[in-house]
Amino acid sequence: MAVSEARDLDRLRAEAAVCKACPLWRHATQTVFGNGKAQASLMLVGEQPGNEEDLEGQPFVGPAAALLVRALADAGIDRDQVYVTNAVKHFKWEPRGKRRVHKTPVQREIDACNPWLLAEIACVQPRLIVCLGATAGRAVLGHAVRIGAVRGVLQSLPGRSDHRVAITYHPAYVLRQRDPERLAAAYGELVEDLRAVARVVQQP
Ligand code: URA
Repeated sequence: MAVSEARDLDRLRAEAAVCKACPLWRHATQTVFGNGKAQASLMLVGEQPGNEEDLEGQPFVGPAAALLVRALADAGIDRDQVYVTNAVKHFKWEPRGKRRVHKTPVQREIDACNPWLLAEIACVQPRLIVCLGATAGRAVLGHAVRIGAVRGVLQSLPGRSDHRVAITYHPAYVLRQRDPERLAAAYGELVEDLRAVARVVQQP
């Protein structure tokens, strides 16, 4: 599926709905394109839709979304003022009993989806892109990242110094912390990163 030159999110969404650039469309319910404010100064990029997102057709509506919205609010960021999308726009999963269990996308799937992400960035023109987790970081920066090493380091989109890039935890990583102290610490670090992001976006 070719990505048109159109700088129009509705048109891109319609084009992406029939994308077959990698095999993930076969077992997904639908393409889950980004949503939110069309000219947002802040864009959040997750990994890929989960089970709920696949069924609803909207990014970040499942359990990780609740934590993300709370962390955004605690950082003083209004969810309605940001554009939210994913590095990969089809749900990759494997069956476990009756459940569909998330599988991490591989490089060729990230690459196949990258034209949609780049087209969203070209449309929205965000000042700052926040990568939630390593897959988003890899998709946006074009190379593998270690979250622990890059948290808090403001980077630029390759070849585009007008789009800054920050990387933080994926909210699902925070949710996976079983130890209550570790969970509280990871949540606090996520909020701290988002507060830093808010300060950058609010700069004149
Ligand atoms: N996790 C993601 O990375 N994206 C979603 O849309 C939902 C969960």
